[in-house]
Order: sequence, then C-alpha cells, then structure tokens
Amino acid sequence: MEIFGVDIGGSGIKGAPVDLDRGDLATERHKVLTPQPATPDAVADGVREVVQRFDWQGPVGITYPGVIAEGTTVRTAANVDKSWIGVDARTLLSERLGGLPVVVVNDADAAGVAEMRFGAGRDRTGTVLLLTFGTGIGSALFVDGILVPNSELGHVEMHGREAEKHTSTKAKDDHGLSWEHWAHRVQKYLLYLEKLFSPELFIIGGGVSRKAHKFLPLIEDVRAEIVPAKLENNAGIVGAAMRAAEQGEHRVSAATAPDPSGGV
Ligand code: BGC
Repeated sequence: MEIFGVDIGGSGIKGAPVDLDRGDLATERHKVLTPQPATPDAVADGVREVVQRFDWQGPVGITYPGVIAEGTTVRTAANVDKSWIGVDARTLLSERLGGLPVVVVNDADAAGVAEMRFGAGRDRTGTVLLLTFGTGIGSALFVDGILVPNSELGHVEMHGREAEKHTSTKAKDDHGLSWEHWAHRVQKYLLYLEKLFSPELFIIGGGVSRKAHKFLPLIEDVRAEIVPAKLENNAGIVGAAMRAAEQGEHRVSAATAPDPSGGV
C-alpha cells in the first residue's frame, strides 16, 4: 500500500508516496524550500506544491516541528513562525489539499515510528528514546514499541538553558564547535536523559546521523546502547505516512464496528 508522506523542516518541505510494506519512498521525493517567514499559510502552499507534483489523491501524513495535540492543533513553535500556535493544522492542510484526509504528527515522533518499524529500533522492547539533532532537538519516546507522543525532550533545562540551544547541530555550527566538543555536550545530554528515563537504547537521528562515526565513538559513560538512525533523511516522510495509514484503519474500523448499544 502507498500513502503520501510530507516532512516540514526548517529549510525544506519534502514529500513522496511511501511504500508502507518496504518502509521506503515509492518514488524519488520532491522538495521545495521552506518559505521565510514560515507562516501557516505559506507553508501550506509549499505542502500543496509538493503533493500536487505527484497528482496525489489519497490520504496524506504530514510532520510538524512542534507539539501537535490530538493530531490536530499546534501547541508550540520553537523553530517556526509563532503564528502557528493554536492553528488547527489538520484542517488548514486538508483544505489546502482540496479536502484530502490529512494526519499531522510531530516530526520526531514520525521519525521514531519509522525507525521502530523499519530501522534501528526494529524488534526492540523496553524504553527506547530516539533523538533528532538539527535546528532543534526532537525526541520520540517508546515503551515496548508504543509511542508516548510529544515528549519534547529537546526543551529539558540543563545548566539553566534549554538543551537544544546548547546541543543541537545548529548550536554546533553557530559556535563552530569541533566534533570532540559537541560530542561532549551530547554525552552530558544523554547522561541527563538516562538519569530520567533509564532507556535500553538511544537512537540518534537527524541529518547528523550520517556522520555518526565522527562523534558516537567519542561518547563515554552512557550505560544504554547508542546507535545511529538507519532511515536518515526519509524517516519523517515514512513515519508520517505510517501514521496516516493507521488513522485510516481507525476510521474504517469505527465505521464497521458493531453498534455498542446493540441497535436499541
Ligand atoms: C520542537 C520539537 C521538534 C524538534 C525538532 C523542537 O524545537 O519543540 O517539537 O520535534 O524541535 O524539529
């Protein structure tokens, strides 16, 4: 089965039909630049451009880089335009796509769902934490494969500052940190999260996962296993499509479920 997935990121809006049996893009993805400022209206136009490129007419899963309450309403906007807060993103995007069914999901949660099914978290039980390092830090928390949505661990406070301000790859670039220096910050962050959650596994995602060999070997003292994500840049797209497929199944089963009142 194929479902369309879109990943809204700080620099690009990327999307493609996803082959849900393989957990991979069915065709090459299309990308447009994220408009600046990244207002809801401008981003919705970008999403439409990506989806229309494929002449897609089915359900669409879309990531958003902030808290999404009940798959619908935006609650935070750390690295996008603040006018997103309070927006019913599902309705906005569905309308912009001519009424196609839309599911909106936090970007790190989407990446996590994809990694747990098809990537580095496959068949892993217990507590697993996926962290995406980029403009911010995203997190996806799993207990026995079940997602605890919107965990937002990039915003935990360490030394009086939000962790993502200090330890994202943006912080590395902005301050010209060496891999050694940055790995030290990542190590402190992982140790802090380990104290809070005692996960069995950390999965390190985001674009930097491609360069895992440069910094993972420098991280010490963390008890949990630490592995790079496997799906790299496509995890968000794949995970968003998976969430949209699940919602579709719920809709079908709710429509065909026996009437709980027994028809009385
Ligand atoms: C947001 C998260 C998001 C992460 C990565 C953070 O600033 O609060 O929701 O997952 O950035 O985009």
